[in-house]
Amino acid sequence: MANIQIRKYRNEDAESVKELFTLGMSEHVPSSFTHVLKQPLTQMILMCSFCALITSSKSFLLPILALTLFLAGVRQMVVYMFNKYIETCLSKDLNNIGQTYLQQKESCFWVAESEGQVVGTVACLPAENAHACLELKRMSVRRSHRGMGIAKALCRTVAEFTQERGFAAVILYTSVVQTDAQKLYEHMGYTKTREFVVPELPAKILNFTLLEYRLDLH
Ligand SMILES: CC(C)(COP(=O)(O)OP(=O)(O)OC[C@H]1O[C@@H](n2cnc3c(N)ncnc32)[C@H](O)[C@@H]1OP(=O)(O)O)[C@@H](O)C(=O)NCCC(=O)NCCS
Repeated sequence: MANIQIRKYRNEDAESVKELFTLGMSEHVPSSFTHVLKQPLTQMILMCSFCALITSSKSFLLPILALTLFLAGVRQMVVYMFNKYIETCLSKDLNNIGQTYLQQKESCFWVAESEGQVVGTVACLPAENAHACLELKRMSVRRSHRGMGIAKALCRTVAEFTQERGFAAVILYTSVVQTDAQKLYEHMGYTKTREFVVPELPAKILNFTLLEYRLDLH
């Protein structure tokens, strides 16, 4: 971790932080698309449509064209879901980090800086659904700086802050497709406490599962 400094967010970091978050989320589109293709419902739709079209049209071209369009539609739905999530996060807190995270003593936003560039982010604030816990949020590391222990350092920063403020545990949510994040949190001692499907309709159709992790500090 030579030349990496973890410090509190400053207003001039705003654009880099938003860019880093958007890139970090968008990179999960391909793995989410693969996740959808692996679902039994998707495979059944593909198989049944293919058989029905090939029987009715007696040609290979129509079913192949129809399935290609179907897959393109599914991919667009995944892209839509991610874009909607990114937009929600921007309007909920990332467009106003100072006000959301830096005005109360139980929340904070940090960046990891390397040679003047923001290469990592993390934040925490009181958890809405868990008593006496802080929620870790907005963990992201620039691709060029991965594998250097930056995320581990950001996790430790949140755990220390949580302990100093007298909270019992850190909780966080990640998704089934964020496998690097799952490995990171398990490596840092977090345990998986819950799995649930995102309640919105497109996510339900795609069986998009969220995972809740918890790190007890006492
Ligand atoms: C998840 C993420 C933050 C990890 O950042 P990082 O700086 O590369 O992580 P670190 O170098 O600190 O690695 C920490 C540990 O996580 C695990 N890990 C991280 N990336 C991994 C990978 N690609 N394969 C296997 N293990 C991995 C390892 O256990 C690693 O420890 P080790 O190197 O001692 O084995 C980064 O991949 C990322 O920003 N992803 C996109 C955004 C995202 O999904 N954020 C999570 C939101 S919940």
